[in-house]
Amino acid sequence: MARYSSNSDEVESSEAVQAPAPNPLLARYRQEVEKRLSEIYSTDGWISAAANEALRAGGKRLRPILAILTCEAICGNPEPAFPVAMAYELAHSASLIQDDIIDESPVRHANPTAYKRYGLARAIMLSDSMIFEIFTLMARYKDSELPKEGLVRLLELLGRAASLAAEGEMTEVALSRRGDVKTEEYTKVIGMKTGALFAASAASGAVVARGDRALIDKMYEFGLSLGMAFQIGDDILDMTGNTESTGKPLFKDMENNAGNVVLLHALSNADIVQRNTINAFLFKKWFTSLEAEKLLGILKQLGSFEYAAALLSSKTSYCRSILHSLPPSHARNALEELTRTVEVRKE
Ligand code: IPE
Ligand code: IPE
Ligand code: MG
Ligand code: MG
Repeated sequence: MARYSSNSDEVESSEAVQAPAPNPLLARYRQEVEKRLSEIYSTDGWISAAANEALRAGGKRLRPILAILTCEAICGNPEPAFPVAMAYELAHSASLIQDDIIDESPVRHANPTAYKRYGLARAIMLSDSMIFEIFTLMARYKDSELPKEGLVRLLELLGRAASLAAEGEMTEVALSRRGDVKTEEYTKVIGMKTGALFAASAASGAVVARGDRALIDKMYEFGLSLGMAFQIGDDILDMTGNTESTGKPLFKDMENNAGNVVLLHALSNADIVQRNTINAFLFKKWFTSLEAEKLLGILKQLGSFEYAAALLSSKTSYCRSILHSLPPSHARNALEELTRTVEVRKE
């Protein structure tokens, strides 16, 4: 392994410098989620086949992992979280199918998106069927030790999160048509469109672990901030990511004039010349490398990436401060690690 020293270009060779080993709990639960997801759809028919195909195509499984780790961090056992954790992954997968229709995105997980592959009608049916499958998953709590109020709380969290996410997705479309968006407006929108599912997923982990009301609320806050940080990272990756790692096209938010924080910051701080250049790049379907360089140069000059990175790290720091409410454990460490992966994510 090689490392560049901080004050010169010379390469320092060092066997000792290694990337930190991935947290074993994160890896283990990601695998467990994969396995359990692959068992949800087992009937014959188009919906089952298409759902399995969509679920197998990839995904980081952050929302279910969040529910599972929260549950384990509170009660020492991840098991009660699995049905609701799967429910959040299905809600998320359905929302991606819909988001790709709204954003007219042709590629996700390095594959054609559902509406490109199957057409609009089938993509809508597929996302609907994933949402309805959530009811079946939640029925698994029938014979569990979870009291009735706990189940009702889970259903409330799910319903409310889905409504907030839908509202956020639609508000973003309106937001992106303006050039003077304040940070508070942006964070409110991403708190709904992305934060709501993360928040409800973490809170649900606390509910099934039988945490008290104050702890459930704290974990909701944790998930909300983590989700917002995650979306800010996604906005940065839209401009600078490697499409092989993200599995999504670059500059999609420029093409859609979407509420991307890097773009919003740039438009609010640009002088007339910079603004005209940025505006000329909006709605473009593809960028030559020269155009990309020119755009990125302006965004860097304006400090828009630094601004986004600082906003992101303020959210993850807040997440870590909330974790002090939990007793020390491997699961709590894994939650902390999750906040770090959001800070440096490439996929
Ligand atoms: C994508 O979410 C949508 C956003 C909130 C930015 P993920 O990045 O979590 O989607 P996966 O990992 O592909 O499922
Ligand atoms: C997130 O917004 C959408 C959802 C919360 C479903 P994006 O539009 O930025 O997500 P990607 O980039 O398409 O994954
Ligand atoms: Mg999108
Ligand atoms: Mg995006």
